[in-house]
Amino acid sequence: GGLGQLGVGLAEMLRKQYGKENIILSDIRRPPAEVYNMGPFVYADVLDYKNLRELVVNNRITWLVHYSALLSAIGEANLALARTINITGLHNVLDLALENCLRLFVPSTIGAFGPSSPRDPAPDLCIQRPRTIYGVSKVHAELMGEYLHHKYGLDFRCLRYPGVVSAHTKPGGGTTDYAVQIFHDALSTGHHECYLRSNTRLPMMHISDCHRATIEFMQAPESQLSLRTYNIAAMSFTPEEVAEEIRKHLPHLRVTYNPDTIRQTIADSWPVRFDDSNARQDWGWKPAYGLSELVTDMLASIREKRTNAGLPVS
Ligand SMILES: NC(=O)c1ccc[n+]([C@@H]2O[C@H](COP(=O)([O-])OP(=O)(O)OC[C@H]3O[C@@H](n4cnc5c(N)ncnc54)[C@H](O)[C@@H]3O)[C@@H](O)[C@H]2O)c1
Repeated sequence: GGLGQLGVGLAEMLRKQYGKENIILSDIRRPPAEVYNMGPFVYADVLDYKNLRELVVNNRITWLVHYSALLSAIGEANLALARTINITGLHNVLDLALENCLRLFVPSTIGAFGPSSPRDPAPDLCIQRPRTIYGVSKVHAELMGEYLHHKYGLDFRCLRYPGVVSAHTKPGGGTTDYAVQIFHDALSTGHHECYLRSNTRLPMMHISDCHRATIEFMQAPESQLSLRTYNIAAMSFTPEEVAEEIRKHLPHLRVTYNPDTIRQTIADSWPVRFDDSNARQDWGWKPAYGLSELVTDMLASIREKRTNAGLPVS
C-alpha cells in the first residue's frame, strides 16, 4: 500500500538511511514516473499470498511495513471491500511475517477508539469499541499482532497515528482529510467548506513527524518496548482553530461549515486528544511540529507547488 498518502514519503526517508536499493515500494496501482524513478517499485496485492511470499523470498526482505487499507469514510461506503483488504490482507501479512521472521509494522489509528473510550485523553490501554469497519479492523490488527507476538515471538510493532497532514500527497478518504484540503483551498479559492462542525477537535500530526516516529519506533531495541501498540501525539485542533492559524498568513480565508452526517458521527466518537506518554518514555518519541509550525510549513509547501505548476496563488 505504498502509493497512498503515507508510503512514498516513508520510503524516501528510509532510503536516505538505508540506501535506495534496500527499500522496495509496492502497491497495486501504477506508480507515477517520479515515484518509479526514485527507487525499486514492484506490484504487490496484499490479497495474493503467493505473490507476497515470492517477493519476500526473492528479495530477502527483513522488515515489512503494511500500509494497504481502506480508511474510515471510504470503508463505511465499501464494507465488503474494507473487510477483505483490512482483515484478510492483514492475515496474509501476519502469516508472511511469522513464516519469514520479519519485523512487521502495522499502523493503527485514532479510529481504533469509540464512543465508550475515554476521549480526552485516550490512553494506550482502555475500552475500544469502535463503530466503523475501519476501527474494528484496526483493533483486530492490534490484537492479532500482539497475540502472535506473545505466542510465537513475532516482532509486531504498531503505532496509532493521529490524522496525518501532508502537502505533497493526497489523503485517502479518512475523517481528518479536511485538515489537508483547507490549505489547498486557502491558497486557491480562499474558501473552504468543511464537512465537520467548527468545534470538532481531533488529534493531528505533520507527515514528517509521522514518518520519523515510524522509523524511530522500528529501530528501537525490543528491550525498550513495554507495549507493542503505542499512541503517538503531536497536536489536537478544531477546524476553527486551524482556520484561525491560517488567517495569520492569509487573512481573507473564509470557512463555511456543512457537517456530513457520516464523517461527523465518526469524528464525534474518536478521541479529542491522545496520551502518548508511554511512547515518549519507552523509546523517546517527541514531535517536532506544533500547530503554528504545521501551518507555516503547509502553506509554504503548497504555495511552492502551485507556483511551480504555474497555478495562481491566492
Ligand atoms: N493517513 C492518515 O491520516 C492515517 C491515519 C491513521 C492511520 N493511517 C494508516 O496508515 C496506513 C496508510 O495510510 P494512507 O493514508 O497512506 O492510506 P491511502 O488510502 O492513502 O493508501 C492506501 C494504499 O493501499 C493501496 N491498496 C489498496 N488495496 C490494496 C491491495 N489489495 N494490495 C496492496 N495495496 C492496496 C492503495 O492503492 C493505496 O495506495 C493505513 O493503514 C491507514 O489506516 C493513516
